[in-house]
Amino acid sequence: MVRATFDVILETMLSGGEGLDIDQASHEIGVYLETLGQPSVADLFGLPAWFRVASNPRGARALRYLKRAVGNVVKQRRANGTNRGDLVDMLLQAVDPETARQMSDEDLRDNIITFISAGHETTALALTWALYLISNHRPTEERLLAEIAAVAGDASIAPEHIERLTFTKQVVQEAMRLFPPVAIIPRAAEVDTVIADIRVEAGTTLLIPIYALHRHRTLWEDPDRFNPDRFGAENASARHRFAYLPFGGGPRICIGMSFAMIEATAMLATFVRGARFVHDPMHQIRPLVRITMRPQCGMPMLVTTRE
Ligand code: HEM
Repeated sequence: MVRATFDVILETMLSGGEGLDIDQASHEIGVYLETLGQPSVADLFGLPAWFRVASNPRGARALRYLKRAVGNVVKQRRANGTNRGDLVDMLLQAVDPETARQMSDEDLRDNIITFISAGHETTALALTWALYLISNHRPTEERLLAEIAAVAGDASIAPEHIERLTFTKQVVQEAMRLFPPVAIIPRAAEVDTVIADIRVEAGTTLLIPIYALHRHRTLWEDPDRFNPDRFGAENASARHRFAYLPFGGGPRICIGMSFAMIEATAMLATFVRGARFVHDPMHQIRPLVRITMRPQCGMPMLVTTRE
């Protein structure tokens, strides 16, 4: 799943990643996310960023590699002046409407690394957990197959199908409720404040527990049950706006939210129509919560193509 979503983000951002050693870049991003990309105890004690980098040579090496490799791609693209209509082109041409400022090569490089890092493992996890839940719930699989056949037949999933794949989208949403790819969002209080009668001093680190929120008994009926109908139009409107936060909320809400929903819906429809995924019943699922929520020992599946 990680490799599939990595291909999608490379195609969208960098027209396939020309000029980049894709296997190496994918490996280094993995190392970076596991090391420097995670919140650490150093953050909780307010230690400076250089401390984390210095105490984490593997992560620092991965970041140096990514900065160099992506920096070279940016330089080449600026020099060639080609217009492929991908996201890098859009960022190269973008002008801040307030300051008329354009991005420097370093800004661009860092933005691309952020988009690629933030944008593919999360979506891969949403798909992984969705396939796991579907594999344990035959009725959902059958409803998915019926919807995909009715909307797209045998054709490749195209933009005009996405809006009509409503149940498929609900399955993605319900999978992200039970297994939110970003399970905890950290924040630092800027000023002294009071939250639910608790005094919070400026500088305190707060953790917003998305996983717990999504399974809270006062917010959800039978919260541990997989039920994509919760996200049907009639049920979704009654819910509190902040009861469901897979993409966060407020000014820092995920910038890739719409992209991710389109991507995950199209990919899930394609996978489910193309193959049956059966989770190995001997394999114990252990969700491991760091900043993302992964299955700790992977997700072995028996994959049988349909027909
Ligand atoms: C299912 C997939 C995804 C999930 C669950 C997800 C989740 C999140 C969450 C929870 C945040 C907010 C973090 C915070 O408040 O501290 C966030 C921010 C962000 N996401 Fe996503 N994301 C997904 C896909 C994507 C994609 C596809 C992209 C890029 C193409 C992306 C790029 C970003 C960026 C750049 C931010 C930082 C935004 C800012 O701070 O202003 N994400 N994401």
